[in-house]
Amino acid sequence: LFKLFGRTTLMEVRPGGLTLPARYGAVSGRIRGLAVRPDDVWVVSYPRTGSTWTQEMVWCIGNDLDFTRAVELQQYRAPLIEMAAVGLNDGRNAFGVALGDSVSRVTDMPSPRFIKSHLTWDLLPEQLCTVRPKVVYVARDPKDLCVSYYHYCRLAHGLDGPFQDFAELFLQGGVPYGSAWSHILSFWARRNDPNLLFLKYEDMKKDLPSQIRRTAEFLGKQIGNDDIRNLIEYLSFDRMRDNPAVNFQVVLAGKYRREGAREADVGFIRKGQVGDYKNYMTEDMIARFDMRTRETFAASGLSFD
Ligand code: A3P
Repeated sequence: LFKLFGRTTLMEVRPGGLTLPARYGAVSGRIRGLAVRPDDVWVVSYPRTGSTWTQEMVWCIGNDLDFTRAVELQQYRAPLIEMAAVGLNDGRNAFGVALGDSVSRVTDMPSPRFIKSHLTWDLLPEQLCTVRPKVVYVARDPKDLCVSYYHYCRLAHGLDGPFQDFAELFLQGGVPYGSAWSHILSFWARRNDPNLLFLKYEDMKKDLPSQIRRTAEFLGKQIGNDDIRNLIEYLSFDRMRDNPAVNFQVVLAGKYRREGAREADVGFIRKGQVGDYKNYMTEDMIARFDMRTRETFAASGLSFD
């Protein structure tokens, strides 16, 4: 594991189970004990499921498509609460940007707060269970997720190893944030809770207007056809890849090879496709991933196209 993740020091949150960047230990208690507000809106997901895309959709709907305010960095408007732990940006970076303490930022934000996290259910604030704010969860086929996560870990965490090794580790749940299957299953099990909306990346790719309508209804917002058209244009892959408020160039400054931003496999917003796994996985690997997905989800009715 440490050979694969060259630059990021990792810690085992649950021995033999969940691995996270070592500095998570310094914020875990503050996140678990966070005072949750009823009008918070949380976007939760395993990393690389399209959570930045989803967060932008949720934030825009929740803020009546205020594209003027949307020019602010997404990490400021809708922080990843554990950003301070994942160590992407300490202090002031090459862009002169200091992300600061993400937990304090969340604590100090005026309501309604838009908050993102990749943490598993049991590591999120305890009060989510009692205060029950709205939670939007987004899932993605673990095969594409794994490929996307591989490239992201190379970009941001100094991962230096072949895809096959990463995929084995991913299957074992040994990558940061643990098993994608357990993560997704624990939220799928809550899909009928009235405060939870379960989305899939593949559905957003296939039919974004209907996922926008579902999300607006869930957030209790009216959205007309013109607004939907504008939002779809704003959320398009090309627009988001070139939008500095959401494309993570600023957050990943120094790690992000700016000149490589348009290369297919470099960049936070990378390819945005369903089925890219076919370019990386052997038949055997595909069969093992599909088997795990079937075994984990089939009985509960979740599948990925
Ligand atoms: P790929 O690496 O497969 O391209 P997250 O934000 O949770 O880290 O997820 C990142 C994934 O979402 C990346 O997948 C990224 O390209 C994709 N993504 C980001 N914005 C997108 C958009 N507007 N449309 C489609 N996919 C998008």
